[in-house]
Formats: sequence, C-alpha cells, structure tokens
Amino acid sequence: MVKKDNLQAVAEAKNKWETGTLQKTIGKYPERHSDFMTVSGSPVERLYTPQDIEELDYLEDLGFPGEYPYTRGVQPTMYRGRLWTMRQYAGFGTAVESNQRYKYLLSQGQTGLSVAFDLPTQIGYDSDHPMAEGEVGKVGVAVSSLGDMEVLFDEIPLGKVSTSMTINASAAVLLCMYMAVAEKQGVPWKDLRGTIQNDVLKEYSARGTYIFPPSPSMRLITDIFAFCSKEVPRWNTISISGYHIREAGSTAAQEIAFTLADGIAYVEAALKAGLHVDDFGPRLSFFFASHNDVLEEIAKFRATRRLWARIMKERFGAKNPRSMKVRFHTQTCGHTLTAQQPLNNIVRVTLQALAAVLGGTQSLHTNSYDEALGLPTEEAVRIALRTQQIIGYESNVAETIDPLAGSYYIESMTNRLEKEAADYIRKIDDLGGAVKAIEQGYIQREIQDSAYRYQQEIESGRRTIIGVNKFQVEEKSRSKIMKVDPAVGQSQAQRLKQLRKERDNREVKRCLAELRRGARTDENLIPPIYRAVKAYATLGEICDVLRDVFGEYRPTEIV
Ligand code: 3HC
Repeated sequence: MVKKDNLQAVAEAKNKWETGTLQKTIGKYPERHSDFMTVSGSPVERLYTPQDIEELDYLEDLGFPGEYPYTRGVQPTMYRGRLWTMRQYAGFGTAVESNQRYKYLLSQGQTGLSVAFDLPTQIGYDSDHPMAEGEVGKVGVAVSSLGDMEVLFDEIPLGKVSTSMTINASAAVLLCMYMAVAEKQGVPWKDLRGTIQNDVLKEYSARGTYIFPPSPSMRLITDIFAFCSKEVPRWNTISISGYHIREAGSTAAQEIAFTLADGIAYVEAALKAGLHVDDFGPRLSFFFASHNDVLEEIAKFRATRRLWARIMKERFGAKNPRSMKVRFHTQTCGHTLTAQQPLNNIVRVTLQALAAVLGGTQSLHTNSYDEALGLPTEEAVRIALRTQQIIGYESNVAETIDPLAGSYYIESMTNRLEKEAADYIRKIDDLGGAVKAIEQGYIQREIQDSAYRYQQEIESGRRTIIGVNKFQVEEKSRSKIMKVDPAVGQSQAQRLKQLRKERDNREVKRCLAELRRGARTDENLIPPIYRAVKAYATLGEICDVLRDVFGEYRPTEIV
C-alpha cells in the first residue's frame, strides 16, 4: 500500500526516531511495562508504520464491502443501509413471563428476538423430569411442549420479527415447535426469519449442553440444513459459535480457529450427506464474543470474514457469493462482568459493543450490568439496549463503512490473527478435523491453557481489572437481584399433567413410533419430529425416543 522507496525512507526515519527522540524520553520516563500485550497475550509493538503492512494488497486482502473476501463487511452499504439487529438474549421462568419480557423489549426498540431456554429444555428434559429439579426456568424459559411455545410467542407476529433460539442438542424439536406456531398464526414457513444455534460441536468442547454422540448429532444438524433449504429458505440453520469458546477462556485467534474448524466439520458433514455447498452455505451464520481489547476484537472480526471467505471458495469450491459471507451475531463477554462495582460493567459493555460495531457485526446482544449478580433486571436490560442505540444513533461510527481500515495496527493485527487461526486449523486438520480434535481433547486443552494464563495475569496483577484487583472499594451489594420463583417448576409440572390428559395420546404414541422407525433409517427426521410436536408430544418424550436409538454422549476425560 506504500511505495517501496517511501518504505525505505520510513524505515530510516523510524530508526532515527528510536535512537534519538525515543531514547531521550525512555531514559527519563520508562514505559509502564517491559512487554505490552493484547488481552489474548499477543505482543503489542510500541508503534506501527507502513513497514508492518508492506505486504498488504488492497484489492486482494481488503477489497470492497459486500464483495469477496468481505474483509470490510458483508453488505455493500453496511450500517448506512441498515443498523445491526439489536437482539437481546432473554428468557426466564415460564413462557408467560418471557413473553412479557419480549414484548417489553420490542416496545423499547429492540429489532430482533433472542430466546434463552432453561437447561432442562436445552438437554431435552421436560420440566417435570427429576433431572430438571431446581433448574426449571432458571437460566432461560421452560418449554416442554408446543403449548408452551404458543404462549411464548403469544401476540408476537412471527412473519414480522426474526427470532434467534439458543438451542443445540434439541434444536430440531424447538425449530418444529416454532414452525408449528407459525402455521397456527397463518405465517408461511417461507416467510420465517431467524436462527437456531444448532451447533453441538462447541457444546462438546466448551458449553456442555449436549445429548447425543457426535455422529447422530451431525445427522440431525444436516437434516435441518436439508429441510430448511427447501421449506424454510430464509431461516439461518446454524449459528456456529465462538462465543462460548471465548467465554471458556480461549484467545481471539483460538476463537476464530475453533469456530471455523467447527464450521468446516459441518460443511463436510453436509457434503457427505449429499448436499451441495451452495444449497446450505448461504444460511450458515456465526456467533462471536466481543472482549475488552477493543482493537484486537475489531481485527478479529475482519480476519474471520476473510479467512472463512477463502475457506468456502478455495477449500469447498463455493460459487454463490452468499456462501462465502460470515454473517455474525456478537454478544459482549459475560465473563468480563464483575460483581464488584457492577455499574462499571456498563462501560465495559459499551467498549465491547463499540468493538463489535467497528468490526461489522450483523446482530448484537449487550450484557446487562447486573448479570454477574443474577438474572438481569428490566432496568439493566433497558440500559444495555440503550447502549446499542446510543452507539447506533449518536456516536456516528455507523455512518461510514469499516472506518478502522488502513490503520497500520488494525491491518497488521488482522493479518496476524488470520495467520494464527489458519495455523490452528491446519493442526486440527492434521488431527482429523474438529470432531476428532475434540474427542482427543486437543481443543479443550488449548482453551484451558489460555484460560489459565489469563487468570494468572489477573492474580499476579499484570492484568488490571478495575474494582477487582485495583481501585477496589468497600461495598454492599446494591443491585436488586432478580431471582426465578421456585414455584415455576410446580406450575410447569401442573401444565404438563393437564396436557397429557387433554391430548390424543393414541396419536402421540403413533407419532413417537414413527419417529423411532425413522431414527433407525437415514430418512430426514424433521417431518416425523414436526408431526410429533403437532400432536403435543413433549420435548422429553421426543428426545427420549432419540436417546433410545442414538444413545447419549460421554465426555472425553481431559488430562
Ligand atoms: N443492505 C441490504 N440488505 C441488508 C443490509 C444492508 N446494509 N443489512 C442487512 N440486510 C438484509 C440482510 O441481507 C437480511 O436479509 P436476508 O435474510 O434476505 O439475507 C436482512 O436484512 C436482515 O439482516 P441480517 O441477516 O444481517 O440480520 P439478522 O439479525 O436477521 O441476522 C444473523 C443476523 C447473524 C445472520 C443471524 O444468524 C442472527 O440473528 N443470529 C443471532 C444469533 C443469536 O442471537 N444468538 C444468541 C446466542 S446467546 C448464547 O448462546 C449465549 C448463552 O449461551 C450464554
């Protein structure tokens, strides 16, 4: 990007600066650290100049927004055409309470829904299962049947909103419930917009809400790809997630690499199932975290777009440009929130959200300041949403596209992250791909090592966390902490008892038998699951049939 002879002049001038101006100052005022580093532990040089990006080829490596390799963004006009979707992850208690929260958020200007399900729902247990004891409605909303789903979306027009559902192992069942509610609302499936996370590989390596072993899990995922590409064409069939990998303690480069390695595994599984990459490629989506290191995060998102575009085009031969786009959702990093001086979290979330916007996110969740203490209160959720709105409408950073491009530091960091991530992906390829790497514990160990380093830095004081290891104050817990009413479990059990009494149990039995037969063949399981859901078979009954046929996943011991 800079003429060669000019580079020479810059190199000489920098040398003169270092031996003259710089030395004079450093002698008197030594720098704060002997080694500066990013949150991920990568070295940060004192100064970046054209020398650091002399290999950068604008047309090859940056290009234009909305065109390959998408480094500068996936849309030609980015936020000038449409701001990112403000999509707050929410859900707790029964479907009634969550439905009220969704309506509140939409009334406050939220532009997309994001459903958090409780753990029993995520791992395929009904609210009245013994395994659900104490967890019903806790980290998300309890949904055990189509009846609950109808209440969850009561008076919410599914033809007009896009809904994300954070559901993985039992994703096929919740997707069918959503489709069944749409049918009852008279909304054609072809008009449905939204996403299911449907990314079980990261559950094995980082998050833990898995049910079945990898092979049947991959089959269910590719069944969803095949079914939706025909029947629900605007639905994003997977949200390949780096968020939980980062939250588990990975570095930025590992977050890119382990997420894209999972993406490669999904593409290979879909190709093996006979799908064409351009049939499902356009509806793959992604989900990343945004951590405290503002500049590293911006570079991370830009590196991810370029690397995935190259993988889809060069490794998988995608022809449709939409197959090469990383369209992603970002959530600010939950694990950076502190219980100490909780209002400080508003500033952390603002910086992390700003990084996501400057990095070109399509959808964003901003954490509530009180989440380190408990479920977010309505006031805290409103402040979190207002944070996005102030960035979008007042800060002016959305008025031009990829404004940090051309920065010697940002471009150099983008190159470095892309290279580091590509090196990790090659290592994972050598291990036989993401599934094998997870089964060998490689990915889990890499994440654990990074998490340990980061924690050591905090404990040694090398990394400052305001209010935690510096500038502490005496404080009693001030924030009102929202708790879920333990009676939620009883009311859910009551509802299920009523449902099993009122439904046509013969039809339920027939549907479950048909599902069992299908699970034993290689037929697409979405239609039989849909029929079972429509007959009001419960989530637990459907997942139990699949547990019987597929078995359950046993985690790898990490030594
Ligand atoms: N010009 C033209 N068109 C534009 C545009 C522009 N500038 N900007 C957007 N558009 C179009 C898009 O092309 C799209 O149209 P299409 O569907 O026909 O392509 C439409 O406008 C909507 O735009 P996006 O698709 O960019 O925005 P969405 O919000 O609809 O989708 C997504 C974003 C990332 C693709 C999608 O997958 C999504 O919403 N993901 C959200 C996932 C999520 O919320 N996850 C939460 C998980 S919480 C969790 O796991 C944490 C817990 O475990 C702790």
